[in-house]
Amino acid sequence: MTRRELWCFLLLQPLLTAGLQANRTFEIDYNGDQFLKDGKPFRYISGSIHYSRIPRFYWKDRLLKMKMAGLNAIQTYVPWNFHEPLPGMYQFSGDHDLEYFLQLADEIGLLVILRPGPYICAEWDMGGLPAWLLEKKSIVLRSSDVDYLKAVDNWLGILLPKMKPYLYQNGGPIITVQVENEYGSYFSCDYNYLRFLLNLFHQHLGKDVVLFTTDGASEKYLQCGSLQGLYATVDFGTGSNVTNSFLIQRKIEPRGPLVNSEFYTGWLDHWHEAHQTVSSEAIVTTLMDMLSRGANVNLYMFIGGTNFGFWNGANTPYSPQPTSYDYDAPLSEAGDLTEKYFALREAIGKFEKLPEGPIPPSTPKFAYGKVAMKQVNTVEKTLDILCPAGPINSTYPLTFVEVKQYFGFVLYRTTLPKNCSEPVNLSSLNGVHDRAYVSVNGVPQGILERNKVFSINITGEAGDTLDVLVENLGRVNYGSEIDDYKGLIYNLTLESVILKDWLIFPLDMEDTLQCYLSSNAAFKKNPSNSTLPSFYVGHFSIPTGIPDLPQDTYIQFPNWTKGQVWINGFNLGRYWPARGPQVTLYVPRHILVTSAPNNITVLELERSPCNFQEKCFVEMVDKPVLDGPLSSSEKSSKVVRSL
Ligand SMILES: *[C@@H]1O[C@H](CO)[C@@H](O)[C@H](O)[C@H]1NC(C)=O
Ligand SMILES: *[C@@H]1O[C@H](CO)[C@@H](O)[C@H](O)[C@H]1NC(C)=O
Ligand SMILES: *[C@@H]1O[C@H](CO)[C@@H](O)[C@H](O)[C@H]1NC(C)=O
Ligand SMILES: *[C@@H]1O[C@H](CO)[C@@H](O)[C@H](O)[C@H]1NC(C)=O
Ligand SMILES: *[C@@H]1O[C@H](CO)[C@@H](O)[C@H](O)[C@H]1NC(C)=O
Ligand SMILES: *[C@@H]1O[C@H](CO)[C@@H](O)[C@H](O)[C@H]1NC(C)=O
Ligand SMILES: *[C@@H]1O[C@H](CO)[C@@H](O)[C@H](O)[C@H]1NC(C)=O
Ligand SMILES: *[C@@H]1O[C@H](CO)[C@@H](O)[C@H](O)[C@H]1NC(C)=O
Ligand SMILES: *[C@@H]1O[C@H](CO)[C@@H](O)[C@H](O)[C@H]1NC(C)=O
Ligand SMILES: *[C@@H]1O[C@H](CO)[C@@H](O)[C@H](O)[C@H]1NC(C)=O
Repeated sequence: MTRRELWCFLLLQPLLTAGLQANRTFEIDYNGDQFLKDGKPFRYISGSIHYSRIPRFYWKDRLLKMKMAGLNAIQTYVPWNFHEPLPGMYQFSGDHDLEYFLQLADEIGLLVILRPGPYICAEWDMGGLPAWLLEKKSIVLRSSDVDYLKAVDNWLGILLPKMKPYLYQNGGPIITVQVENEYGSYFSCDYNYLRFLLNLFHQHLGKDVVLFTTDGASEKYLQCGSLQGLYATVDFGTGSNVTNSFLIQRKIEPRGPLVNSEFYTGWLDHWHEAHQTVSSEAIVTTLMDMLSRGANVNLYMFIGGTNFGFWNGANTPYSPQPTSYDYDAPLSEAGDLTEKYFALREAIGKFEKLPEGPIPPSTPKFAYGKVAMKQVNTVEKTLDILCPAGPINSTYPLTFVEVKQYFGFVLYRTTLPKNCSEPVNLSSLNGVHDRAYVSVNGVPQGILERNKVFSINITGEAGDTLDVLVENLGRVNYGSEIDDYKGLIYNLTLESVILKDWLIFPLDMEDTLQCYLSSNAAFKKNPSNSTLPSFYVGHFSIPTGIPDLPQDTYIQFPNWTKGQVWINGFNLGRYWPARGPQVTLYVPRHILVTSAPNNITVLELERSPCNFQEKCFVEMVDKPVLDGPLSSSEKSSKVVRSL
């Protein structure tokens, strides 16, 4: 090449690159019944991973394992309430750094199917919708309700412009974007809402993005869930007839790629129901069937992860999900390789070339052993720290949303209006959402529970303090009852007399527990009843002389009943061995330190072993137990009473 030619070549080089970028395309080929990527036939074999259920520390490890399974794409939800905890307040850093997650996927060579909702279901609190939407009492969620649309418009106006550079055609990994989720399963069937979303997505992402919907494989669902301009896909598991399910998709989309957007590798759990599993054989058989038809498949979940903190959702009739979202997925809750992983990898290898190189191994687990715990104080004696702003006065009870406390606990306090020397009937009219720990002058009286226990007998004297500590067990994430108010949503009555003049304490467990840990000398050991909701603390050090510590572990609660646990201020979630089936909670190693003792804080709501055993402890073990016993005494209270 001459100098002049070389000069031209160098000048043109950036333009050529830009040109190559510009014709990155991803589209639907209606004639060929397939997707086209850069003009060439493309089929995805994808897996679901929710970044909100895995610490950022482990994102890369999990994505690499997904890549090595032979997947060419991942699918993730974006939970709105995870990113906008208060109206106009946004979280996009650390474990919330969605853009970093997308960059990692891109670097590893995984395409992305993005599901930004705004509603996502996902067994996630309120299906990802922020609870503050309920401040408007008459709001109709997932509809053309003007206030709902305004909030959606604001949120997607923040999120979607962030996502635009990550679209495939703009040089990023996102090939398709889902609008809403299983909308056909919702009662409102509001096409104007879907049209509003379609326009909003186009406005922020451009016209050349492949937008799609997902619904259960039934004509009824697709009717209300699909809209012209949004490519309709279906979801189904191993129990379904593949031919029939895709025929349903074909009724709405006569041409175009076959897509199962959620092929279930396992299933979700609820407290007090047996741990769910699906056999590898069934999954492999159905997957091979779908792949041999040329279908695009997303495996839901490929790794389930954990509902840390208070993030679990619930189904109806009210039944909350546990902390683990293991899902019996091919990668375990802790990201471990399972027999299902290798079975799926082998099946995928029959259709696609598997990537070369080693598969990242399962992370080692360490049994740190027993950690002695001691009671520090009751919740009642800690109110000035948990609620530094002091209580809210109200004649009648206010809900969590009304006191702007969205998660965890609110304590409602009043005085007994009359002597109750004989047991008197305290009734909730099933207005306790979701569980209330009741005491009079510091003496436990019993527990009220949504749909299960509507009333208890209490005793006390006129003027005694009645405390009702209400726990939000997770908002309904599916169906028509997602407007799930928490707290005392109706009045409490004492022998049909409405209790009045409440002091309402919204309890901030997260920030105050940090200061609690560092100032616990300020607390006097409270000798009173152990069955009052109480805090317990314990410390453990990472052993020295053993290489590669700290490692992941699991924490379990022998003879404890129900509560919440933090390690070094990280909210690991709820434990409830008294109900089962989950026994151990996953503890990722990045929250542990070697330089100082690690602090365990437990809020036991019912009964800890510390008062009836000489010594009480929690225990760190190296194996998970997610299919523990369902207590038979708890079973009897399972009888659902209706009004
Ligand atoms: C971009 O388009 C040109 C002309 O249509 C084609 O030759 C080239 O292969 C395309 N690039 C890619 C990456 O597909
Ligand atoms: C699945 O459905 C198709 C079409 O309705 C039917 O022909 C086939 O027998 C069904 N397969 C099974 C296993 O039931
Ligand atoms: C709230 O009620 C308590 C007594 O129940 C009273 O002492 C206090 O002044 C009240 N506070 C407000 C702000 O009304
Ligand atoms: C409640 O009972 C106590 C003694 O147990 C008594 O002194 C008091 O007068 C009673 N109060 C009312 C309102 O009956
Ligand atoms: C509540 O107390 C009343 C007497 O005041 C008694 O008849 C009833 O059986 C008690 N209920 C329970 C569930 O203990
Ligand atoms: C309270 O009263 C209601 C209505 O009379 C009754 O159904 C319920 O069993 C009573 N609760 C207790 C604990 O006795
Ligand atoms: C409690 O009862 C009062 C008086 O009947 C009523 O105005 C109020 O709305 C009720 N509150 C709730 C939360 O049901
Ligand atoms: C544990 O708590 C103590 C105070 O009780 C504090 O000094 C220490 O920094 C905490 N450790 C960690 C790892 O947070
Ligand atoms: C502890 O609770 C029991 C009932 O569970 C009660 O009889 C006892 O008085 C309580 N003890 C204290 C010190 O409050
Ligand atoms: C649990 O409690 C039972 C009965 O009090 C006791 O025998 C057992 O040793 C306890 N288990 C543990 C692990 O502390």
